Amino acid sequence: MTSDGVELVRVETEEEAAAFAAGELVAAARAGRAIVLSGGTTPARAYELAAQEEPDWGAASLWWGDERCVPPDDERSNYRLARERLLDRLSVQPRAVKRIRGELGAEAAAAEYDRALDGARLDVVLLGLGPDGHTASLFPDQPTLDERSRRAVPAEPRLDPFVDRVTMTVPALCSAPEVVFLVTGEAKAEAVERAFGAPPGRETPASLIRSARGRTRLVADSAAASRLG
Ligand code: 6PG
Repeated sequence: MTSDGVELVRVETEEEAAAFAAGELVAAARAGRAIVLSGGTTPARAYELAAQEEPDWGAASLWWGDERCVPPDDERSNYRLARERLLDRLSVQPRAVKRIRGELGAEAAAAEYDRALDGARLDVVLLGLGPDGHTASLFPDQPTLDERSRRAVPAEPRLDPFVDRVTMTVPALCSAPEVVFLVTGEAKAEAVERAFGAPPGRETPASLIRSARGRTRLVADSAAASRLG
C-alpha cells in the first residue's frame, strides 16, 4: 500500500508487470467490462499477452483514456497500438470499440467523445505515467485538470509526440471502480515517487487520479518502484 491508499503491486521485471496487467485485462474482458485502454508504449506487451491468453473479447467494450490527433493508422496513434497488439490478434472482437477519432482535430474529437461518454459506465481504467507525472493526456498544471463537467477535452501536448491530444478528464477517469497504473523502468522512478509517495497536486496529474468509489493499483517493476518506501 502506498501512503495515499493506492495498492502497490511490485514485481521484479517489466515482463512480470505486463503479465499482471494482461491478467487484469483478461479478467475484465471475460466479465464483459467497459475497459479504458492507455496509450504510450508501456502497455504494448500487456496487450499482446492479454490477446494470447484470451482471444475472445466479445463481451467487453473498449474505450481510450487519451489519443493523439493523428489518423488511426499513424504510428503515433494510441488506437493503432491497441489494434496491432490486441485487436488484430483476437478471434472475437469486443462488442464495442469506442476509439477517439483524433483525425477530426482535438476540439471536434473531444466533443464527440464527450457525447459518447455521456451516461456510459467505465469499469476498468488502465493508465500509464509520463516522466513529468502526466497520465492520459493530463499534463502538469494545465487547465484540463480543472474540468469537472466534461468527460473528454482537447489537450495540448507537453511532451513528445508534440501533436494535439484528446484526453478523458479527472472525473471521468476517477469514475471507474478499478484504476490500474502500469509503470516500468528507471526513468519513471521519480515520477512514481511524486505520484504515489507524496501529497497530490496539479504538478503531478497522476496523483489526482484515484478511483472515487473503488480501488486504485500501481503495477510497477522494481526499477520504477525503487524510490517508494
Ligand atoms: C499517451 C499516454 C500517456 C502515456 C505516458 C507513458 O498517449 O502518451 O496515454 O499518458 O501513458 O506518457 O508513456 P510510455 O508508456 O510511452 O512511457
